Amino acid sequence: MGNLAYPSRFSNHLPPPSIGGTKSAEPEHVHLSYGFPASDLLPIRELNEAANAALQVARVDLLHYSGAQGPVRVKSWVLNRVRKFGLLAEGGNFLPVFGAIQGIDLTARILINPGDEVWVEAPTFFNALQSFRAAGAQICSFPVDEEGLQVNRVEEALQKASAEGRKLPKFIYIMPTFQNPTGSTLPIGRRRQLAQLAKDYDVYILEDDAYAELSFNGTTLPAVYSFAPERVIYVSTFSKTLGPGLRLGWVIAPEEIIQYMATLSLGSQLNPFTQEIVGELLEHYDFDRQVERLSDRYRSRRDTMIRALHEELGSEIQVSVPDGGFFIWVTFGEHVDVNAVAPLAHRRGVSFVSGNAFFNDGKGARYLRLCFSHCSEEQIRKGLRSLAEAYYSIYSG
Ligand SMILES: Cc1ncc(COP(=O)(O)O)c(C=O)c1O
Repeated sequence: MGNLAYPSRFSNHLPPPSIGGTKSAEPEHVHLSYGFPASDLLPIRELNEAANAALQVARVDLLHYSGAQGPVRVKSWVLNRVRKFGLLAEGGNFLPVFGAIQGIDLTARILINPGDEVWVEAPTFFNALQSFRAAGAQICSFPVDEEGLQVNRVEEALQKASAEGRKLPKFIYIMPTFQNPTGSTLPIGRRRQLAQLAKDYDVYILEDDAYAELSFNGTTLPAVYSFAPERVIYVSTFSKTLGPGLRLGWVIAPEEIIQYMATLSLGSQLNPFTQEIVGELLEHYDFDRQVERLSDRYRSRRDTMIRALHEELGSEIQVSVPDGGFFIWVTFGEHVDVNAVAPLAHRRGVSFVSGNAFFNDGKGARYLRLCFSHCSEEQIRKGLRSLAEAYYSIYSG
Protein backbone atom coordinates (compact mmCIF):
# COMPACT_ATOMS: atom_id res chain seq x y z
CA MET A 1 0.00 0.00 0.00
CA GLY A 2 2.87 2.32 0.86
CA ASN A 3 3.93 2.47 -2.78
CA LEU A 4 0.56 3.45 -4.08
CA ALA A 5 1.13 6.79 -5.80
CA TYR A 6 -1.97 8.63 -6.99
CA PRO A 7 -1.73 10.83 -10.07
CA SER A 8 -1.32 14.46 -9.04
CA ARG A 9 -4.76 15.37 -10.34
CA PHE A 10 -6.19 13.43 -7.36
CA SER A 11 -3.84 14.75 -4.70
CA ASN A 12 -4.24 18.48 -5.48
CA HIS A 13 -7.60 18.73 -3.82
CA LEU A 14 -9.18 17.35 -0.73
CA PRO A 15 -12.14 15.25 -1.78
CA PRO A 16 -15.37 17.17 -1.26
CA PRO A 17 -18.15 15.56 0.76
CA SER A 18 -19.94 12.69 -0.99
CA ILE A 19 -23.42 13.21 -2.46
CA GLY A 20 -25.32 12.17 0.60
CA GLY A 21 -22.83 11.57 3.37
CA THR A 22 -23.30 8.57 5.62
CA LYS A 23 -26.12 8.12 8.07
CA SER A 24 -25.17 9.22 11.57
CA ALA A 25 -25.57 6.84 14.49
CA GLU A 26 -27.08 9.67 16.61
CA PRO A 27 -30.83 9.60 16.00
CA GLU A 28 -31.45 13.08 17.48
CA HIS A 29 -28.99 14.82 15.16
CA VAL A 30 -30.66 17.09 12.58
CA HIS A 31 -29.01 16.55 9.21
CA LEU A 32 -29.74 19.66 7.19
CA SER A 33 -26.58 18.74 5.27
CA TYR A 34 -27.95 15.59 3.64
CA GLY A 35 -29.37 15.97 0.14
CA PHE A 36 -31.79 13.10 0.80
CA PRO A 37 -35.47 12.69 -0.11
CA ALA A 38 -38.20 12.25 2.53
CA SER A 39 -37.89 8.56 3.48
CA ASP A 40 -41.60 7.94 4.07
CA LEU A 41 -42.50 9.10 0.55
CA LEU A 42 -40.30 6.60 -1.25
CA PRO A 43 -42.37 3.86 -2.93
CA ILE A 44 -41.07 0.89 -0.98
CA ARG A 45 -44.33 -1.13 -1.00
CA GLU A 46 -44.81 -0.56 -4.74
CA LEU A 47 -41.19 -1.52 -5.47
CA ASN A 48 -41.63 -4.66 -3.41
CA GLU A 49 -44.67 -5.63 -5.50
CA ALA A 50 -42.88 -4.72 -8.72
CA ALA A 51 -39.88 -6.84 -7.72
CA ASN A 52 -42.13 -9.83 -7.01
CA ALA A 53 -43.94 -9.40 -10.30
CA ALA A 54 -40.70 -8.96 -12.25
CA LEU A 55 -39.22 -12.09 -10.67
CA GLN A 56 -42.31 -14.10 -11.53
CA VAL A 57 -42.56 -12.94 -15.11
CA ALA A 58 -38.95 -12.52 -16.21
CA ARG A 59 -37.65 -15.23 -13.85
CA VAL A 60 -34.04 -16.15 -14.50
CA ASP A 61 -33.72 -13.66 -17.37
CA LEU A 62 -33.41 -11.01 -14.67
CA LEU A 63 -30.04 -12.46 -13.85
CA HIS A 64 -28.71 -12.56 -17.39
CA TYR A 65 -26.60 -9.80 -18.93
CA SER A 66 -29.35 -8.30 -21.03
CA GLY A 67 -32.29 -8.83 -18.65
CA ALA A 68 -35.79 -9.23 -20.14
CA GLN A 69 -38.24 -6.37 -20.81
CA GLY A 70 -36.95 -3.94 -18.14
CA PRO A 71 -34.34 -1.96 -20.04
CA VAL A 72 -36.69 -1.45 -23.00
CA ARG A 73 -39.54 -0.38 -20.73
CA VAL A 74 -37.41 2.11 -18.78
CA LYS A 75 -36.03 3.62 -21.97
CA SER A 76 -39.42 4.15 -23.60
CA TRP A 77 -40.94 5.47 -20.37
CA VAL A 78 -38.16 8.05 -19.95
CA LEU A 79 -38.22 9.12 -23.61
CA ASN A 80 -41.94 9.73 -23.25
CA ARG A 81 -41.68 11.49 -19.88
CA VAL A 82 -39.01 13.97 -20.93
CA ARG A 83 -41.32 15.41 -23.60
CA LYS A 84 -42.71 17.32 -20.64
CA PHE A 85 -39.42 19.29 -20.67
CA GLY A 86 -39.40 19.71 -24.44
CA LEU A 87 -37.01 16.84 -25.21
CA LEU A 88 -37.90 15.01 -28.41
CA ALA A 89 -35.32 12.24 -28.56
CA GLU A 90 -35.02 8.79 -30.15
CA GLY A 91 -33.71 5.50 -28.76
CA GLY A 92 -30.25 6.18 -30.18
CA ASN A 93 -30.01 9.34 -28.05
CA PHE A 94 -30.57 7.48 -24.78
CA LEU A 95 -28.24 5.76 -22.34
CA PRO A 96 -29.23 4.46 -18.89
CA VAL A 97 -26.60 5.22 -16.25
CA PHE A 98 -26.20 4.44 -12.58
CA GLY A 99 -27.30 7.96 -11.66
CA ALA A 100 -26.94 11.45 -13.10
CA ILE A 101 -23.48 11.54 -11.57
CA GLN A 102 -22.32 8.75 -13.88
CA GLY A 103 -23.67 10.72 -16.84
CA ILE A 104 -21.59 13.69 -15.66
CA ASP A 105 -18.51 11.54 -15.21
CA LEU A 106 -18.89 9.82 -18.58
CA THR A 107 -19.09 13.25 -20.20
CA ALA A 108 -15.87 14.25 -18.48
CA ARG A 109 -14.20 11.01 -19.54
CA ILE A 110 -15.10 11.25 -23.20
CA LEU A 111 -14.59 15.00 -23.72
CA ILE A 112 -11.78 16.17 -21.43
CA ASN A 113 -8.11 15.83 -22.17
CA PRO A 114 -5.89 17.04 -19.32
CA GLY A 115 -5.63 20.84 -19.53
CA ASP A 116 -8.93 21.33 -21.38
CA GLU A 117 -11.26 23.94 -19.95
CA VAL A 118 -14.63 23.21 -18.39
CA TRP A 119 -16.84 26.14 -17.41
CA VAL A 120 -19.10 25.81 -14.40
CA GLU A 121 -21.48 27.86 -12.29
CA ALA A 122 -20.22 29.39 -9.05
CA PRO A 123 -21.44 27.89 -6.79
CA THR A 124 -21.84 24.44 -8.36
CA PHE A 125 -22.43 20.77 -7.44
CA PHE A 126 -19.30 19.50 -5.65
CA ASN A 127 -19.37 15.95 -7.01
CA ALA A 128 -19.31 17.32 -10.55
CA LEU A 129 -16.27 19.44 -9.65
CA GLN A 130 -14.61 16.30 -8.33
CA SER A 131 -15.22 14.47 -11.61
CA PHE A 132 -13.89 17.33 -13.77
CA ARG A 133 -10.78 17.68 -11.62
CA ALA A 134 -10.10 13.96 -11.79
CA ALA A 135 -10.26 14.18 -15.59
CA GLY A 136 -7.59 16.89 -15.49
CA ALA A 137 -9.81 19.84 -16.51
CA GLN A 138 -8.97 23.49 -15.97
CA ILE A 139 -12.09 24.76 -14.30
CA CYS A 140 -13.39 28.28 -14.88
CA SER A 141 -16.33 29.59 -12.83
CA PHE A 142 -19.17 31.98 -13.72
CA PRO A 143 -21.43 33.63 -11.16
CA VAL A 144 -25.02 32.63 -10.45
CA ASP A 145 -27.70 35.13 -9.37
CA GLU A 146 -31.37 34.65 -8.38
CA GLU A 147 -32.02 33.69 -12.01
CA GLY A 148 -29.25 31.13 -12.27
CA LEU A 149 -26.13 31.33 -14.42
CA GLN A 150 -25.30 34.85 -15.64
CA VAL A 151 -25.29 33.91 -19.29
CA ASN A 152 -24.11 37.38 -20.39
CA ARG A 153 -20.84 36.75 -18.56
CA VAL A 154 -20.44 33.46 -20.42
CA GLU A 155 -21.15 35.23 -23.70
CA GLU A 156 -18.48 37.86 -22.99
CA ALA A 157 -15.94 35.19 -22.09
CA LEU A 158 -16.68 33.19 -25.25
CA GLN A 159 -16.35 36.33 -27.39
CA LYS A 160 -13.06 37.21 -25.73
CA ALA A 161 -11.55 33.72 -25.95
CA SER A 162 -12.60 33.44 -29.55
CA ALA A 163 -11.24 36.91 -30.48
CA GLU A 164 -7.91 36.07 -28.81
CA GLY A 165 -7.73 32.69 -30.55
CA ARG A 166 -7.71 30.83 -27.24
CA LYS A 167 -9.17 27.35 -26.76
CA LEU A 168 -12.87 27.35 -25.96
CA PRO A 169 -14.23 25.16 -23.15
CA LYS A 170 -14.98 21.54 -23.94
CA PHE A 171 -18.34 22.00 -22.26
CA ILE A 172 -20.29 24.24 -19.89
CA TYR A 173 -21.85 22.42 -16.94
CA ILE A 174 -25.15 23.88 -15.71
CA MET A 175 -28.08 23.00 -13.47
CA PRO A 176 -30.80 25.22 -14.94
CA THR A 177 -33.67 24.03 -12.74
CA PHE A 178 -33.64 24.35 -8.91
CA GLN A 179 -29.88 24.49 -8.90
CA ASN A 180 -27.79 22.70 -6.28
CA PRO A 181 -26.96 24.58 -4.05
CA THR A 182 -28.72 27.93 -4.70
CA GLY A 183 -32.16 26.64 -5.74
CA SER A 184 -32.21 29.18 -8.60
CA THR A 185 -33.89 28.53 -11.96
CA LEU A 186 -32.71 29.82 -15.31
CA PRO A 187 -35.54 31.70 -17.07
CA ILE A 188 -36.48 30.83 -20.62
CA GLY A 189 -34.65 33.83 -22.13
CA ARG A 190 -31.32 32.78 -20.62
CA ARG A 191 -31.94 29.16 -21.69
CA ARG A 192 -32.44 30.25 -25.29
CA GLN A 193 -29.41 32.54 -25.15
CA LEU A 194 -27.18 29.77 -23.79
CA ALA A 195 -28.40 27.29 -26.40
CA GLN A 196 -27.65 29.85 -29.12
CA LEU A 197 -24.14 30.38 -27.74
CA ALA A 198 -23.54 26.61 -27.76
CA LYS A 199 -24.51 26.54 -31.43
CA ASP A 200 -22.58 29.69 -32.41
CA TYR A 201 -19.36 28.64 -30.70
CA ASP A 202 -19.66 24.84 -31.18
CA VAL A 203 -19.44 24.21 -27.47
CA TYR A 204 -21.29 21.45 -25.61
CA ILE A 205 -23.62 22.17 -22.71
CA LEU A 206 -23.80 19.52 -19.99
CA GLU A 207 -27.31 20.07 -18.62
CA ASP A 208 -27.97 18.44 -15.24
CA ASP A 209 -31.73 18.42 -14.63
CA ALA A 210 -31.82 16.17 -11.55
CA TYR A 211 -34.50 18.23 -9.75
CA ALA A 212 -36.68 19.19 -12.75
CA GLU A 213 -39.72 17.16 -11.64
CA LEU A 214 -39.89 18.83 -8.23
CA SER A 215 -41.62 22.11 -9.07
CA PHE A 216 -43.61 23.71 -6.24
CA ASN A 217 -45.76 25.99 -8.38
CA GLY A 218 -46.62 23.61 -11.20
CA THR A 219 -44.60 25.47 -13.83
CA THR A 220 -42.22 23.60 -16.10
CA LEU A 221 -39.64 25.23 -18.34
CA PRO A 222 -38.27 23.69 -21.54
CA ALA A 223 -34.82 22.22 -21.06
CA VAL A 224 -31.85 23.93 -22.73
CA TYR A 225 -31.62 20.67 -24.74
CA SER A 226 -34.91 21.51 -26.44
CA PHE A 227 -33.29 24.58 -28.08
CA ALA A 228 -30.06 22.88 -29.22
CA PRO A 229 -30.37 19.07 -29.19
CA GLU A 230 -27.18 18.73 -31.24
CA ARG A 231 -25.12 20.61 -28.65
CA VAL A 232 -26.55 19.49 -25.29
CA ILE A 233 -25.79 16.44 -23.16
CA TYR A 234 -28.76 16.12 -20.83
CA VAL A 235 -28.59 14.08 -17.61
CA SER A 236 -31.32 13.29 -15.12
CA THR A 237 -32.30 10.63 -12.61
CA PHE A 238 -34.86 8.67 -10.60
CA SER A 239 -32.90 9.56 -7.43
CA LYS A 240 -35.14 12.50 -6.52
CA THR A 241 -38.48 10.82 -7.31
CA LEU A 242 -38.15 7.07 -6.62
CA GLY A 243 -35.00 6.82 -4.50
CA PRO A 244 -31.24 7.37 -4.88
CA GLY A 245 -30.40 3.80 -3.83
CA LEU A 246 -31.82 2.53 -7.12
CA ARG A 247 -28.83 4.20 -8.81
CA LEU A 248 -30.75 4.72 -12.02
CA GLY A 249 -30.56 7.78 -14.22
CA TRP A 250 -30.16 8.61 -17.91
CA VAL A 251 -28.25 10.56 -20.50
CA ILE A 252 -29.98 12.01 -23.55
CA ALA A 253 -27.47 13.33 -26.07
CA PRO A 254 -26.40 13.34 -29.72
CA GLU A 255 -26.00 9.77 -30.95
CA GLU A 256 -22.25 10.10 -31.41
CA ILE A 257 -21.85 11.08 -27.74
CA ILE A 258 -24.05 8.18 -26.62
CA GLN A 259 -21.93 5.78 -28.68
CA TYR A 260 -18.70 6.99 -27.08
CA MET A 261 -20.26 6.66 -23.65
CA ALA A 262 -21.58 3.19 -24.41
CA THR A 263 -18.05 2.13 -25.42
CA LEU A 264 -16.94 2.94 -21.89
CA SER A 265 -19.53 0.46 -20.58
CA LEU A 266 -17.27 -2.21 -22.13
CA GLY A 267 -20.08 -4.27 -23.60
CA SER A 268 -22.11 -4.54 -20.44
CA GLN A 269 -25.73 -3.39 -20.02
CA LEU A 270 -26.46 -1.18 -17.01
CA ASN A 271 -27.89 -3.18 -14.09
CA PRO A 272 -30.71 -5.09 -15.85
CA PHE A 273 -32.02 -6.37 -12.49
CA THR A 274 -32.86 -2.86 -11.26
CA GLN A 275 -34.22 -1.81 -14.63
CA GLU A 276 -36.48 -4.86 -14.66
CA ILE A 277 -38.02 -3.84 -11.35
CA VAL A 278 -38.28 -0.13 -12.14
CA GLY A 279 -39.67 -0.94 -15.61
CA GLU A 280 -42.35 -3.11 -13.99
CA LEU A 281 -43.14 -0.39 -11.43
CA LEU A 282 -43.54 2.31 -14.06
CA GLU A 283 -46.05 0.18 -16.02
CA HIS A 284 -48.60 0.54 -13.22
CA TYR A 285 -47.44 3.45 -11.10
CA ASP A 286 -49.07 6.87 -10.89
CA PHE A 287 -45.81 8.79 -11.25
CA ASP A 288 -47.57 12.17 -11.52
CA ARG A 289 -49.24 11.52 -8.18
CA GLN A 290 -45.83 10.67 -6.66
CA VAL A 291 -44.37 13.93 -7.99
CA GLU A 292 -47.34 15.81 -6.53
CA ARG A 293 -46.91 14.15 -3.12
CA LEU A 294 -43.20 15.02 -3.05
CA SER A 295 -43.75 18.60 -4.22
CA ASP A 296 -46.51 19.22 -1.64
CA ARG A 297 -44.34 17.94 1.19
CA TYR A 298 -41.21 19.80 0.11
CA ARG A 299 -43.07 23.06 -0.48
CA SER A 300 -44.35 22.93 3.08
CA ARG A 301 -40.89 22.10 4.46
CA ARG A 302 -39.33 24.90 2.42
CA ASP A 303 -41.83 27.38 3.88
CA THR A 304 -41.12 26.16 7.42
CA MET A 305 -37.40 26.51 6.85
CA ILE A 306 -37.71 30.03 5.43
CA ARG A 307 -39.91 31.09 8.36
CA ALA A 308 -37.53 29.58 10.92
CA LEU A 309 -34.52 31.20 9.25
CA HIS A 310 -36.19 34.62 9.41
CA GLU A 311 -37.19 34.10 13.03
CA GLU A 312 -33.83 32.81 14.22
CA LEU A 313 -31.32 34.69 12.06
CA GLY A 314 -33.39 37.26 10.15
CA SER A 315 -31.15 40.29 10.59
CA GLU A 316 -27.94 38.37 9.80
CA ILE A 317 -28.74 36.64 6.53
CA GLN A 318 -30.14 36.69 3.02
CA VAL A 319 -32.03 33.61 1.96
CA SER A 320 -32.86 32.16 -1.46
CA VAL A 321 -36.48 31.07 -1.94
CA PRO A 322 -36.43 28.21 -4.46
CA ASP A 323 -39.48 27.26 -6.53
CA GLY A 324 -38.56 23.59 -6.27
CA GLY A 325 -35.86 21.05 -5.48
CA PHE A 326 -34.16 20.34 -2.16
CA PHE A 327 -32.04 23.34 -1.11
CA ILE A 328 -31.90 26.79 0.44
CA TRP A 329 -28.76 28.88 0.11
CA VAL A 330 -27.98 31.21 2.99
CA THR A 331 -25.71 34.26 2.70
CA PHE A 332 -24.15 35.82 5.82
CA GLY A 333 -22.21 39.07 6.14
CA GLU A 334 -18.75 39.24 4.60
CA HIS A 335 -17.03 38.94 7.98
CA VAL A 336 -18.64 35.56 8.72
CA ASP A 337 -16.85 32.22 8.39
CA VAL A 338 -19.41 29.42 8.55
CA ASN A 339 -16.57 26.92 9.04
CA ALA A 340 -16.14 28.35 12.54
CA VAL A 341 -19.88 27.88 13.17
CA ALA A 342 -20.02 24.29 11.82
CA PRO A 343 -18.32 22.42 14.72
CA LEU A 344 -20.30 24.37 17.34
CA ALA A 345 -23.51 23.66 15.46
CA HIS A 346 -22.55 20.00 15.19
CA ARG A 347 -22.07 19.81 18.95
CA ARG A 348 -25.55 21.30 19.35
CA GLY A 349 -26.95 18.58 17.08
CA VAL A 350 -27.29 20.15 13.63
CA SER A 351 -25.21 19.98 10.46
CA PHE A 352 -25.11 21.90 7.20
CA VAL A 353 -22.75 22.10 4.22
CA SER A 354 -20.35 25.06 4.23
CA GLY A 355 -20.29 27.18 1.10
CA ASN A 356 -16.64 26.41 0.28
CA ALA A 357 -17.50 22.94 -1.02
CA PHE A 358 -19.38 24.49 -3.95
CA PHE A 359 -16.65 26.80 -5.26
CA ASN A 360 -13.71 25.63 -7.31
CA ASP A 361 -11.38 28.13 -5.62
CA GLY A 362 -12.48 26.97 -2.13
CA LYS A 363 -13.88 30.41 -1.29
CA GLY A 364 -17.47 30.88 -0.13
CA ALA A 365 -17.07 30.75 3.66
CA ARG A 366 -19.94 33.22 4.15
CA TYR A 367 -22.46 30.84 2.59
CA LEU A 368 -24.10 27.63 3.66
CA ARG A 369 -26.47 25.14 2.09
CA LEU A 370 -29.46 23.71 3.93
CA CYS A 371 -31.53 20.79 2.69
CA PHE A 372 -35.26 20.93 3.54
CA SER A 373 -36.45 17.73 1.84
CA HIS A 374 -35.27 15.12 4.33
CA CYS A 375 -36.02 16.41 7.85
CA SER A 376 -39.45 16.89 9.45
CA GLU A 377 -40.74 20.42 10.10
CA GLU A 378 -40.15 19.93 13.81
CA GLN A 379 -36.55 18.88 13.15
CA ILE A 380 -36.08 21.85 10.83
CA ARG A 381 -37.24 24.31 13.53
CA LYS A 382 -35.12 22.60 16.20
CA GLY A 383 -32.08 22.46 13.90
CA LEU A 384 -32.28 26.13 13.02
CA ARG A 385 -32.60 27.12 16.69
CA SER A 386 -29.38 25.22 17.35
CA LEU A 387 -27.69 26.73 14.30
CA ALA A 388 -28.63 30.24 15.48
CA GLU A 389 -27.27 29.53 18.98
CA ALA A 390 -23.99 28.35 17.48
CA TYR A 391 -23.81 31.42 15.23
CA TYR A 392 -24.59 33.93 18.00
CA SER A 393 -22.03 32.28 20.31
CA ILE A 394 -19.38 33.62 17.89
CA TYR A 395 -21.03 36.59 16.19
CA SER A 396 -22.96 38.31 18.93
CA GLY A 397 -25.39 40.11 16.62
C1 LIG B 1 -27.41 18.54 -9.25
C2 LIG B 1 -27.25 17.09 -8.96
N1 LIG B 1 -26.92 16.26 -9.95
C3 LIG B 1 -26.77 14.95 -9.73
C4 LIG B 1 -26.95 14.40 -8.48
C5 LIG B 1 -26.73 12.95 -8.29
O1 LIG B 1 -27.76 12.23 -8.88
P1 LIG B 1 -27.70 10.67 -8.94
O2 LIG B 1 -28.10 10.12 -7.61
O3 LIG B 1 -28.70 10.34 -10.00
O4 LIG B 1 -26.32 10.27 -9.32
C6 LIG B 1 -27.30 15.22 -7.42
C7 LIG B 1 -27.47 14.66 -6.07
O5 LIG B 1 -27.23 15.25 -5.06
C8 LIG B 1 -27.42 16.61 -7.65
O6 LIG B 1 -27.72 17.46 -6.67
